[in-house]
Amino acid sequence: MAAEGTVTCTIDGIEVTVPAGTRILEAAEHAGVGVAHYCYHPGLSAPAMCRMCLVEVEGAPKLQPACITHVGDGQVIRTEGGEAQEAREGVLEFYLANHPLDCPVCDKSGECSLQDYVHQEGRKHGRSAEPKRVLGQDFFGGESGGIVYDGDRCIMCTRCVRFMREVPQDDLLCVVQRGNRSVIDTFFEQGLDESGWAHNIIDICPVGALLAKDFHHKARVWDLDRAPSICSGCSQGCNVHVDVRDNAVQRLRPRENPEVNAYWMCDHGRYDYEWLNRAPSTVGGGAAESALASGDGAARRLDAPMVRGADGEQAETDWREAILALVDRVSRHDGRGGVTALVSARQSNEDAGLAGRLADVLGGARKLYRSARADAEVPCVGVPGLARRRDLAPNVRGLEALGFERAGDDDGAGGLDRAGGVLVVLGDDLADLPADFGAGADLFVYLGHTLTPAARAAHFALPVTTFAEQDGTFTNHEGRVQRFWAALQAPAQARPAWQVLGVVLAGAEDGSAPASAADAFLRLGEWHAPYRGLSYEVLGAFGALANASVRVTPDGAEVG
Ligand code: SF4
Ligand code: SF4
Ligand code: FES
Repeated sequence: MAAEGTVTCTIDGIEVTVPAGTRILEAAEHAGVGVAHYCYHPGLSAPAMCRMCLVEVEGAPKLQPACITHVGDGQVIRTEGGEAQEAREGVLEFYLANHPLDCPVCDKSGECSLQDYVHQEGRKHGRSAEPKRVLGQDFFGGESGGIVYDGDRCIMCTRCVRFMREVPQDDLLCVVQRGNRSVIDTFFEQGLDESGWAHNIIDICPVGALLAKDFHHKARVWDLDRAPSICSGCSQGCNVHVDVRDNAVQRLRPRENPEVNAYWMCDHGRYDYEWLNRAPSTVGGGAAESALASGDGAARRLDAPMVRGADGEQAETDWREAILALVDRVSRHDGRGGVTALVSARQSNEDAGLAGRLADVLGGARKLYRSARADAEVPCVGVPGLARRRDLAPNVRGLEALGFERAGDDDGAGGLDRAGGVLVVLGDDLADLPADFGAGADLFVYLGHTLTPAARAAHFALPVTTFAEQDGTFTNHEGRVQRFWAALQAPAQARPAWQVLGVVLAGAEDGSAPASAADAFLRLGEWHAPYRGLSYEVLGAFGALANASVRVTPDGAEVG
């Protein structure tokens, strides 16, 4: 007898105890038994229309759809063999009557559940001799090239229609026509342009009927490497997979986190990755140099340390020389003239924490960040707590917890005086500033990804990695600290900023350098109360809330 509130049943001979009200398909998953399905998705309602999940329940007069039938105490369920298997084979044969077998060119190949199930348990040979129905393609619009609908591949599971109705609650899709003439369509010419969340339908379409133009023919999915990460598009902090090929991001996809983004991500964040793929340049010569000299395309990747010599010109050097020279300057600094630290809200907590520490060691700093803001939030109405936030950077709250204050306008520009003392810039490419910004500083240290004109005035221009090239954490708008993992190899000599700054601080006799990102994170807890007691182990896969001092108050005010 199961404990109160639970039921115990047997699925393919495996006994499993689950909460009362659990569906057979979910209970089977709990027992490690996969039940084939198309129309069921854990984030949507279940209409039981694809008939792929039929199972045998002892005592029931006919097969039951596992996606809507709740398990009963003592029930004996069979998914393998007999009638259930025969039914699935028939359903698959029915789908293949019209579905084109264009797997060699379809972008869903490798992720298509029709392909998987047919391989697993379909008939060995098709019996259909009739020509297949041809419905053709449609274009639904939307961000970054938009979404293509291939009516011939659609198996009419209606996941996409239900997604739009139930998740963003923006009813922009419907089924038109009946029977085998049914197609998915938008209303008149409206398309999906206006929806901020529509591109999730590409991920949940179980076949290749909905595809992103952005990813068309870029890669076969089995050629992609995947890394778990956090979207950098806003301060919501949606969990994502970064899919990489040839050391370039090919696409971003949502990664499940019930506390932050459920199964979804917004369209803006999905396509906010091109900046991570900027080609490395060779500094100190060639195309990058002439582009800088002529003033066009000034933002080139900085991939080797540059130090300004006595002649006032920056010259490329190696890390050892650059660090020794910087440690010497830091050790000799007497704290006069003031210290300004400017950090981008796209840098990790570890990077920003070490930059703030350097500024403190140099003698009490103004700590600033600049970050673009949208006019308004774009809520995902059906998922409480999920919205594209106004702050269009992932770590605004993290920087505030580390003592940084907002500067500049809603475009992430302006707000800076010409500094006279020490200027430490991390990750902010100063693109809006004149070339002589910082030229008058006693010491100007630029740790960045790009060598912009303003960065050419730095005494030290040091190449650091983007968040996609290193491990680290961001703190989202509600104070949830979440880990991300390196997805790309860093170009040339670029290093994580926490590593560079840790070595400089160690040289200036502020203890030993952190050996890893995890170690750098532990130090934040020693210096800043919001991170006290947290570690990478405590954060785990879903992150953890920082201590109360960085949470939002009920009226939405930001508490630093
Ligand atoms: S387009 Fe895809 S998600 Fe939509 S009904 Fe067809 S198969 Fe299902
Ligand atoms: S809501 Fe924000 S964090 Fe989430 S996917 Fe969109 S831009 Fe990225
Ligand atoms: S998954 Fe159960 S009927 Fe479609």
